Amino acid sequence: MPKKLNILFASSEVEPFAKTGGLADVSGSLPKEIRKLNGDIRIFLPHYSTIDSAKYNIKDLPNSEFEIQIGSNKIKGKIKLTSLNVNGKQLTVYFIHNENYFDRGGLYVNPLNNFDYEDNFERFVFFSRGVLEATKIIGWQPDIIHTNDWQTGLIPLYLKTLYGNDPFFANTKTVFTIHNLAYQGIFEKSEFSKTGLPWDVFRIDGIEFYDRINLMKAGIIYSDAITTVSKNYAKEICSSVEFGYGLEGVLAERKSNLFGILNGVDYSVWSPLNDDFIPQKYSGRNIGKKIVNKKALLEKYGLPFNENIPVIGMISRLADQKGLDLIEAASDELLRLDLQLVFLGAGDEKYQLFLERIKERNPEKVGVHIGFSNELAHLIEAGSDMFLMPSRYEPCGLNQMYSLKYGTAPIVRATGGLEDSIEQYNSETKLGTGFKFYDYDKNELSKTVRFALEVFSDKKSWLQIMKNGMKQDFSWKVSAKKYMELYKSLIPE
Ligand code: ADP
Ligand code: GLC
Repeated sequence: MPKKLNILFASSEVEPFAKTGGLADVSGSLPKEIRKLNGDIRIFLPHYSTIDSAKYNIKDLPNSEFEIQIGSNKIKGKIKLTSLNVNGKQLTVYFIHNENYFDRGGLYVNPLNNFDYEDNFERFVFFSRGVLEATKIIGWQPDIIHTNDWQTGLIPLYLKTLYGNDPFFANTKTVFTIHNLAYQGIFEKSEFSKTGLPWDVFRIDGIEFYDRINLMKAGIIYSDAITTVSKNYAKEICSSVEFGYGLEGVLAERKSNLFGILNGVDYSVWSPLNDDFIPQKYSGRNIGKKIVNKKALLEKYGLPFNENIPVIGMISRLADQKGLDLIEAASDELLRLDLQLVFLGAGDEKYQLFLERIKERNPEKVGVHIGFSNELAHLIEAGSDMFLMPSRYEPCGLNQMYSLKYGTAPIVRATGGLEDSIEQYNSETKLGTGFKFYDYDKNELSKTVRFALEVFSDKKSWLQIMKNGMKQDFSWKVSAKKYMELYKSLIPE
């Protein structure tokens, strides 16, 4: 019988505990699927004070105090834990606790002024080392440590340096997943001593990046395998500075260890048949009931309801990545069309102002909610006719895949995972699941929206595209197996 793998999954955000974007969705759902495949996977995340300990039954692990040297200070931490039930199997979640670092209103950004916390470097140095110390306290030897994005990029480096001779980790291999290369965790060189690392890793083939520290680069260089969240993005990030953000060369050098594995969807959370957040559940068999959600959505946004006017929804971090400038450039033309737009997002003030402005000018056509609301996100998926994702780049993107299951046809720019997951609708063959455009150009966007509206006006065709989408299966099954195979390939026979 093959040995059961011990897999440590470290992430800075995990659903349902803490979330700013898709990383949390993935960190909450991939481990569950790996657990089903019989891997002993355990999740590690920071113990943010915003996590509801009572709700999730989070307890202190007795005698779990540890100390980490950060520069000249000894910083204390301890471990908390809870357990999730996955089809009768237990999945343990460990939280790294330190009040000074994680008792905040936001995860990375201060919600009061929208600035990154000034001590983010220290916070994630502490978390990264805390994970390794915690593992030793628990006495559970990981075969694989799966790290995600810059917040955990130091872990593979620590294993090759400070913990390099530690017999506890002698057989531990690392996987580093890139969820978004634009956020690299770049910090001043003056902070380096906080890591406790030897200075010889601060070099061009180490974590040095234009005389600063780059934590994403640490993950890329020192891990045993690298993955990213779609095949297309894996290609894109090696190809040019547009996607590689200065790390394209480093990535190209590690190409033989870089794998694109498309994210999956947790259909127990994102499916109109199981969705407890929406007023009317439905499926491919009774698609007509979707309209109840459309009514509820428009009511929520204070917009008039008309069955024949398509509602285009968008749920997004308000960041340059997401194509809001393109929407702004095309907005005059888009708002001349017979449609309604419904937005949910938080982030850059300039985009908030833009959305508020078009709402004010088009009170019957545009609905805007600024903020983070999981409940509303579900209602938008269920109540919209179309879903808009005109991203400048998109490593994977999850909402377009959620939209398919809700019969909400995605309108996307064909980049990264959007290209991989959406198939262009063809009016003649009636095949395809959504509407794609390639050039990052306002005319391309409005042309594509016009095409979507034309298809919408023909009820039969629209029913077809909804059905095509709802039939798609992006569950984690396939992708989780690929991760499992990758883990196994790293373990010597
Ligand atoms: P990214 O991780 O780049 O933000 P993804 O498409 O991978 O993009 O995932 C975004 C996730 O975050 C989805 O689950 C989406 O519903 C959710 N989300 C984004 N913004 C909000 C918001 N303002 N309120 C609620 N959920 C949001
Ligand atoms: C990132 C990307 C998004 C991806 C998510 C989960 O935040 O921007 O495209 O779906 O991570 O991997």
